[in-house]
Amino acid sequence: MIKGLIFDLDGVITDTAEYHYLAWKSLAEKIGIEIDREFNEQLKGISRMESLELILERGGKADAYTDAEKEELATQKNEEYKESIKEITPKDILPGISELLKEAKEQKLGLVLASASKNGPAIMERLEIMDLFDGIVDPASLKAGKPDPEIFVRGAEMLGLSTRECVGLEDAEAGIQAINGADMFSVGVGSEEAMREADYAVADTADLNLQTILEKAGS
Ligand code: BG6
Ligand code: MG
Repeated sequence: MIKGLIFDLDGVITDTAEYHYLAWKSLAEKIGIEIDREFNEQLKGISRMESLELILERGGKADAYTDAEKEELATQKNEEYKESIKEITPKDILPGISELLKEAKEQKLGLVLASASKNGPAIMERLEIMDLFDGIVDPASLKAGKPDPEIFVRGAEMLGLSTRECVGLEDAEAGIQAINGADMFSVGVGSEEAMREADYAVADTADLNLQTILEKAGS
């Protein structure tokens, strides 16, 4: 019986995945590295510093910067990102998500946010949906980020549920791997290719329907 939903944020609840991509692209260009959307799939779901490391590796610059310089580059990206999320309002909740959250509440399901983003709480406030959620897993408190299952295991614990009693929703390959690794039913949003490991996948958040998700999860 499914009693909880554990949500990723960027690319599932709101389209901030796009802003992350644009901010990384702009930072990468400044240091002479080209990135495209295909490469960006690997950046989804992983931490800020891990993303920077992958970009530097791609540009053959893995050893070109000191730790302090890397911190500075990551900060620059985050400053640009923060500019783009300043104006977010509840209108930026992706299609189908408000209905899904509302129905989940009506059915007394627990809701937890499991995002790798340190900007998560600020975005949730701007979207005015914090009240609906029972908690946010603090990504800074994790031993390992996605694709490690820890964040989803912690999400289930917050609800006092086993991972099998929860469904995880993700748009990142690393996120789907984390959900699967937690022995939780995984729902993917995105291309068939990127979501091939998901237990159930839809192309768009507008296609998410609580009843269907619960049925697919065997609830
Ligand atoms: C994830 C995004 O939700 O958060 C990643 O999918 C991002 O792209 C990560 O790098 C960390 O976000 P932040 O806001 O802490 O830099
Ligand atoms: Mg995401």
